[in-house]
Amino acid sequence: MNIKEIIRKKRNGFSLTKEEIEYFAFGAADGSVKDYQLSALLMAICFNGLDERETLDLTDAMARSGDMADLSAINGITGDKHSTGGVGDKTTLVVAPIVAECGVKIAKMSGRGLGHTGGTVDKLESIPGFKTSLETDEFISIVNECGICVAGQSGKLCPADKKLYGLRDATETVDNMSLIASSIMSKKLAGGADCIVLDVKCGSGAFMKDEKSAIELAEKMVEIGRGAGRKIAALITDMDTPLGKSIGNSLEIIEAVETLKGNGPEDLTEICILLAAKLLELAGKGSFDECKLLAKSKIDDGSALKKLAEMVALQGGDAEYVRNTELFPKAEFSLDVKAAESGYVTHMNAEGIGLACVALGAGRQTKEDDIDPSAGIILHKKTGDKVEKDDVIATLLCSDDALFKNAVLQFNESVTVSDEKPSAKPLLYGIVG
Ligand code: URA
Repeated sequence: MNIKEIIRKKRNGFSLTKEEIEYFAFGAADGSVKDYQLSALLMAICFNGLDERETLDLTDAMARSGDMADLSAINGITGDKHSTGGVGDKTTLVVAPIVAECGVKIAKMSGRGLGHTGGTVDKLESIPGFKTSLETDEFISIVNECGICVAGQSGKLCPADKKLYGLRDATETVDNMSLIASSIMSKKLAGGADCIVLDVKCGSGAFMKDEKSAIELAEKMVEIGRGAGRKIAALITDMDTPLGKSIGNSLEIIEAVETLKGNGPEDLTEICILLAAKLLELAGKGSFDECKLLAKSKIDDGSALKKLAEMVALQGGDAEYVRNTELFPKAEFSLDVKAAESGYVTHMNAEGIGLACVALGAGRQTKEDDIDPSAGIILHKKTGDKVEKDDVIATLLCSDDALFKNAVLQFNESVTVSDEKPSAKPLLYGIVG
């Protein structure tokens, strides 16, 4: 088989065979197919798509490109959660400790930032000492000891996705439904959990911009999961406006901690309770409504926050940062962005705000970039809020004030203020499965 033929075939709009898909997925994993050839193929896939059978074959090949996690050494039922990616989406940091505290073991592999969206691994690494790269034995022993471990994608699990994920981020080939579905589901299948809840984001800050395509993606992933014998459901949630008020790595850890203390923004708290409840319901902990109450009780009694601190300590991080978030270093420079006129915030383009954060150093422009853990944006106003001229809409934070120029332009382009109060949008569009 020849990679150039495979690229030409997809470029010319033909379907690839299972063998051809395995050839490039395994070649991505072992390095025998070059990055530039994979990038060309990814672009051809973005133009010409993958059909249902090709998507299943790619999911399966990526899942089998490395080890399949054996979670049989974990005592009890295991759960996993994955978001399709958004701006200000720190739900894993809240949902995972709540669910673990309810007795469902969370053995979770998370990703880094992708495109304009943030990644849980980057956020957790803003805690000094926190290790996201773990050997399987260590991962399993942490789950058995405290019920929860959130690690980065180990080189051994889904190495094909690990390679393609980085290339997609750098080559603008992220927002293809089949690539997203196979990327997420290959990791979930290789990750081995019994129950999986997916958070499929929908709106300007999501890869799926409208409800119809978000539902289609959710159905695709739920079908793949069921086909593999997992208990799985997907919530379709709003990402038209950033989630919560803080965007950026350490800023989002701080907001997640506040949410676990019961002081989080309403939208974030609600989505976290819904996701936790769905996962608990799949794990047999009661009806959806009972599980919502159960999840909430773990915030109210402070036990989920303690669970997060326990996990941080076991993964080598300084748990004092969870107990006292004032310890996080502050960004050197800050700049308030003010309203140019009075009115209502009628739209906040979440993708544009995510890109403003990347411009501040909170995300990567190239695969090799380091990120600045303290950079980001704090929103003081959100869609639907009334503003007076000169009210501060947001504070931008970074370590190099030369970065403000582009970030402010990008931010201002993403926010619309006008006279008419916008109608409220739902946070949850629906549940698949
Ligand atoms: N999250 C993933 O793991 N993969 C994608 O392609 C998008 C979001």
